Amino acid sequence: PAAAHAVPETDRPVVVAHRGASAYAPENTLAAVDKAAGMGFDWVENDVQRTRDGELVVVHDASLARTTDVEELYPGRSPWNVRDFTAAEIARLDAGSWFDSRYAGARVPTLEQYVRRVTRNHQKLVLEIKNPELYPGIERQTLKVLSNEGWLSPWRLRSGLVVQSFSADSVRTVHELRPGVRTGFLGAPAVADLPEYATFADQINAPYKTLSRAYVAAVHAHDGPHDDPLRTLTWTVDDAASARRVAGYGVDGIITNVPDVVREATGGR
Ligand code: G3P
Ligand code: CA
Repeated sequence: PAAAHAVPETDRPVVVAHRGASAYAPENTLAAVDKAAGMGFDWVENDVQRTRDGELVVVHDASLARTTDVEELYPGRSPWNVRDFTAAEIARLDAGSWFDSRYAGARVPTLEQYVRRVTRNHQKLVLEIKNPELYPGIERQTLKVLSNEGWLSPWRLRSGLVVQSFSADSVRTVHELRPGVRTGFLGAPAVADLPEYATFADQINAPYKTLSRAYVAAVHAHDGPHDDPLRTLTWTVDDAASARRVAGYGVDGIITNVPDVVREATGGR
């Protein structure tokens, strides 16, 4: 039933803090999760990848170079890819100073640490499996962490978890492994292809510049794998005018680095 969907149907879009409240705190850190919570936002988005020794960590780029001091600590290991470093090596990195010296010492969280913080803050999670082609089996492993942290209980599945990816194969795998988990495909498939996506994805999470009222209506016209209408969370909307425009199209959620701006513009939650 529609009422049980992780993202309920309302006329106000859900506001999702992209990589945490990442305009105000370093992306994908616990500080960014806490910042979103402090600003009153339930929903946070993150990106999950895997270390050389098999730990899941929360970081956006395939390389650690942009968002940490990895080049200083480990010169000569260019291009500093996440998958070439152990969890212990990554745990030493400063993931905050690049953003602002106030955040010096912020760490790249493990997925476990991240989910625990989201749990503690009573928040909800849009978890992106990033670059799954680099990490065979990451879907099963991600679900295992979520399960260990109590996030696959019926209550949690109802109250707010979405697992999304740009890889349709990855989304399909998540759906097949744990059909109760709400899933999202990142992209904007042709309308003619939506019935196929609707067999494994609950959400079609399209970039906002490609959106139109007609496309959102086409998405909503299909039922997803849980027999309620497909939803769309659009990204990454960082100005009030664009937020108002896509809210007018009827999107179900807006993923943004500036959740306060989007809430103010749309009346979203
Ligand atoms: O959640 C959507 C958005 O995060 C996808 O793009 O590059 O920011 O992961 P990206
Ligand atoms: Ca993302």
